[in-house]
Amino acid sequence: MDLKWNADKYTQDFSFVHEYGNDVIKLIDMENRTSVLDLGCGNGALTNRLAELGLNATGLDASPELLKIAGETYPELTFYQGDASDFTLPEKVDIVFSNAVLHWIAEEKQTDVLRCVYRALKDNGQFVFEFGGCGNNVLIHEALRQAFTDRELAYKMPFYFPTIGEYASLLEKTGFKVVYAVLFDRPTELKGDDGLYDWIDMFIKTPFDGADKEVRSEIISDAVERLKEKLYREGKWYSDYVRIRCKAVKDKG
Ligand code: BEZ
Repeated sequence: MDLKWNADKYTQDFSFVHEYGNDVIKLIDMENRTSVLDLGCGNGALTNRLAELGLNATGLDASPELLKIAGETYPELTFYQGDASDFTLPEKVDIVFSNAVLHWIAEEKQTDVLRCVYRALKDNGQFVFEFGGCGNNVLIHEALRQAFTDRELAYKMPFYFPTIGEYASLLEKTGFKVVYAVLFDRPTELKGDDGLYDWIDMFIKTPFDGADKEVRSEIISDAVERLKEKLYREGKWYSDYVRIRCKAVKDKG
């Protein structure tokens, strides 16, 4: 997905994205592992965390805006610009890690992503990842759909949120052995009084293609109002996140 990011705001106000990534890193089996690719590395915060753990860490991302921040913040690390569904590394790695990225990629391209990851791994290498799973942000997307429909506009869901069964099946078809998979709710606090408005404004882009600024803003406000009862508690906004977290191995016996 070719999106322009407000990289500074993303880094400042949505730091929970990489903070939660630390839990995903714990799933990596570090023994005898030296190299890792952070697939969809964004601002490089987790690439750096992986490097701090002693791994030779590189990052790959499609966004020049985020890669600029990554390169400036961690000049000692290597970052590549590339497409997760069409990349080749100069050398194979022990681990491919990915946090909060795969839901941005269309379902039709997921097999291409997994083939690239499989090819990038050494034998017995691990693919450790988390992203939005089935039911992710269901309340937010439903409120947006209603706000669009009220204006006789169609809301096209821009993300891929699979079940464990669906994703494990894709992994197995690619040749991976799935050794760990969970789907869990993780309501996530959003920063500030306008936390939900800001979240939608930052992350929901393509459904608004062609809409002018005022209409976009009106629709977001409308959706936020509809969500107040469910996602605003004790003075704080929450996003209704559901995560799918997996570890899959390039099994060569
Ligand atoms: C997520 O991390 O689940 C997510 C973030 C932004 C948009 C959609 C999903």
